[in-house]
Parts: sequence; C-alpha cells; structure tokens
Amino acid sequence: MRRTRAGREAETSMSANNTPTVLLTGSNSGIGRAAARRFAERGVHLILHARTEENARQVRDELARETGNERLETAAADLSSPDEIRRMAGALRDRHPHLDVLINNAGLPGGEPHTWTVNVVAPFLLAHELKPLLAAAPGQARLLNVASTAQAAIDLDLLPEEKGAEGPSSYSRSKLALVMLSFEMARRWRGEGILVNSLHPGTLLDTRMVRERYGAPRGKAEEGAEVLEHLALSEELDGVSGVYFDQKDRARAEEQAYDENARHRLWEITTRMAGLAA
Ligand SMILES: NC(=O)c1ccc[n+]([C@@H]2O[C@H](COP(=O)([O-])OP(=O)(O)OC[C@H]3O[C@@H](n4cnc5c(N)ncnc54)[C@H](OP(=O)(O)O)[C@@H]3O)[C@@H](O)[C@H]2O)c1
Repeated sequence: MRRTRAGREAETSMSANNTPTVLLTGSNSGIGRAAARRFAERGVHLILHARTEENARQVRDELARETGNERLETAAADLSSPDEIRRMAGALRDRHPHLDVLINNAGLPGGEPHTWTVNVVAPFLLAHELKPLLAAAPGQARLLNVASTAQAAIDLDLLPEEKGAEGPSSYSRSKLALVMLSFEMARRWRGEGILVNSLHPGTLLDTRMVRERYGAPRGKAEEGAEVLEHLALSEELDGVSGVYFDQKDRARAEEQAYDENARHRLWEITTRMAGLAA
C-alpha cells in the first residue's frame, strides 16, 4: 500500500533502513568497481550490474571473498539495448520488493556508436523501469545519475533524428542531458518519495575510460567511489533532491539545464527514444 508523501517525508531514508538495497551499474570497472567495494564493506545489500553475467559474477565472487558480504547479487544487461534493460529490470522487479538506491554509473566516452543510448537513454529507461521498486522503498529512495563537469549545450532540433546525438562532443552533450533529465525527474518524482540527484565524480580519475580516451589521470577512481558512497548513503543527504553535485559540493550546471522548456523538450524526446509511453 502506498503511503502519503507527508508520511514518507517524516522518515529519514537510509537511517530508517540499516541494510539498504543498492543497484550499481557499471560495477566491474573504474569508479563503479571501487564504489562496489565500499558498499560491500559496509554490508549493503548490493546488486552488482555489469554488461554480462560473467563479468558481474566475477565482481561478486571477488567482493564476497574480500569483504565477507553475503548479500551480493548480480544483474546483467548491455545498456545499449533497451530490450536488455527491460529484461533486467523485469527480473529485478520479480526478485525484490523495493530498491533504496539506484546508481546509474555506467557510461561511455564520446564518439562511440552508443554513447547517447548508454549515457542518456539507458539511465532514463532503467529509472522508469525500476520506479515501482524505488517508490516502494521504506524511506525516501535515492537515484544518482553519474554525469560530469564536461557539459555542452544540446541542439534539441537535431536530437529527434539522433543526428545531434553522436559525434566527438557527444560525451559533454550526453552528460548535460543527464543533468537536465535528473532535474526534471527530481521535480516529477518528488511526490513518489524518490530523490534524484546528479554528480561529477571527479576530474580525470584513473579509470579505463580516462586512460584510453582522455589522457593522463589526475586522481584515483577511489575519489569518485567515495563521492558515490556519500551521496548514496549519508544522512546529510536526507530529503535532498534536484541538485547537481561537483563531488560532494552543490554546484551549478551548464546554463541550458535551467531552461525549463529545453528540459521539457528533452524529456519528451528521451521518452520517445526509450520507447516509453508519453
Ligand atoms: N573517470 C573520470 O574522471 C570521470 C569523470 C567524470 C565522469 N565520469 C563518469 O563516471 C562513470 C564511470 O566511468 P569510469 O571513469 O569508471 O569508466 P570505466 O572504467 O570505463 O567504466 C565504465 C563502466 O560502464 C560500463 N558500460 C559501458 N557501456 C556499457 C554497456 N553498453 N552496457 C553495460 N555497461 C556498460 C562499462 O562496462 P564494460 O567494462 O563491460 O565496458 C564499465 O563498467 C561514467 O558515467 C563516466 O562518464 C568519470
């Protein structure tokens, strides 16, 4: 039975729930892998997503051995495939009564054939598919979208045909799109008890994506993992929604994120791209 908004807001989210259930995408590499270890060490009921079941099981087995956490589960989907996202989400809905935290961490660098799908459409679709589980959380659920400080304005006239979605600067445009959709989702889903924030995990952290595409790393993946842990579980974030964080600090996104019309148009376009009913 759905409780009232007031009832939900009277509760604290994580503090009301000693072992939160957390789904982390891209848990097998970089920031996601480092964050998975932190969550596992805290005894979180952690669902480890990877592109393949084999990759997810490998992380689960390593973390079970290293941390002794017996509440580690796996979930697999190629996030460039909306059908696979739907299948994975359906299996999670069958297995779990609720989800306390969803972290959309997986991402691709710019210029890949699926950059826009993986960085924008996948987090949007997965969040929609898992919304019933988030809304059923005992306290306020948290949805974190891992964006970036690399943000570039989007030509929304080009997006519907996906002409504007790819190309070399697709990374910065995709990350701004994710911030814009997070702002909009926070506004639309607040009444359902779902808090939505987006974040920049750190600059040039030492991960595969940075090493292969963006040059010499400046920081450790662990830095980003600490940010994810903080924003996902800290009581300081109780009730906080609709914020873009630069690591742990509230920050201002690129100007287009504050254009309400642009956000609405992007929401409609992404809804169509994700194959969700308007
Ligand atoms: N590192 C930084 O300095 C930095 C800065 C700002 C933002 N970020 C963001 O942080 C997040 C994590 O990136 P990272 O730096 O940790 O890079 P990474 O080590 O390359 O990790 C990327 C993760 O995304 C997964 N992924 C990509 N495409 C996928 C697909 N089609 N299906 C399923 N999983 C897929 C990868 O899985 P596979 O191993 O199977 O490919 C991997 O687990 C990304 O959203 C990135 O944009 C990173």
